[in-house]
Amino acid sequence: MRIVSSIAAMQQLAKKWRRAGKRIGFVPTMGYLHAGHMSLVKRARQAAGKSGGVVVSIYVNPTQFGPKEDFSKYPRDLKRDFKLCREAGVDVVFTPGNKEMYPRWGESLSSPEVKTAKKLGSTESRPTKFSTYIVEEKLSQSMEGASRPAHFRGVTTVVAKLFNIVLPDVAVFGAKDWQQAAIIKRMVADLNSPVKIIVAPTLRERDGLAMSSRNKYLTGDLRRQATVLWRAIQTARTAVKRSKTIPAAKLKSGLKKLIKTELDAKLDYVEFFVPDTLAPVLKVMRGTHMALAVFIGRTRLIDNARL
Ligand code: PAJ
Repeated sequence: MRIVSSIAAMQQLAKKWRRAGKRIGFVPTMGYLHAGHMSLVKRARQAAGKSGGVVVSIYVNPTQFGPKEDFSKYPRDLKRDFKLCREAGVDVVFTPGNKEMYPRWGESLSSPEVKTAKKLGSTESRPTKFSTYIVEEKLSQSMEGASRPAHFRGVTTVVAKLFNIVLPDVAVFGAKDWQQAAIIKRMVADLNSPVKIIVAPTLRERDGLAMSSRNKYLTGDLRRQATVLWRAIQTARTAVKRSKTIPAAKLKSGLKKLIKTELDAKLDYVEFFVPDTLAPVLKVMRGTHMALAVFIGRTRLIDNARL
């Protein structure tokens, strides 16, 4: 397994593979890998074939975190990640640095460039020699987009950059981040990127909690309380089975009550929508998609499922 951190070296290797007719399967991640990530790697291997190349990127992307979010304390353990990738038969782990991804990121907050930007009313607190972003304008408005402004701008931008560096034929994303996967599919279609997007199922712990790097934050009783997301999904499923169609507002208020039963849980949103378009529905029925975000203590967790 090769570990590549230079963008030029990764691009050269990808070009070489392509010239040799190798299919490239790609799994972008922010590291602190778990079985959910590794299931995407397996899917990427299937898609690339035995003779293909599988690339996993590990990069905690600063542009997708809000100023009050957990960018600096996001869990990191590269040594363990490398071991998991090696065991899974990954060919290349790509670990770019911030300096190369976003030149002059966070440099000199008092630079003339920033002073001018502030005068012009910019809220950008992190000056950088980087000013081109990819913005998906429809699917990014609701749910995660409404709660985390600029989050998806950061995601689409970094994924587009990674696609330009890794040159994949196929990229695999998890259904765990349903809205993210929908937005990436839209981006690829809109911009005619020659990348096939595969969405792989969410892996869960035995008690239903969706695997996530952020689960590391759940200490003591918070870990138990976190199962309330999965319990909410199960409750909605049971309700749909029982009465075929239910007004979304009625189901929402029931789920709000359920989430309130946990001392440290605070609902951010719960939404019901058409799976592909993310269009909200007024009546929930079989096949409707549900997504929710809940703070468990200070940790924000998301989950979703088809009902
Ligand atoms: P990260 O949260 O590390 O997730 C990387 C990929 O793993 C995403 O496609 C995500 O949906 C998938 N994933 C996470 N938990 C999963 C689970 N329990 N089961 C299946 N798949 C799971 O998502 C990101 O990173 C970033 O936004 C990224 C796309 C890398 C851009 O920075």
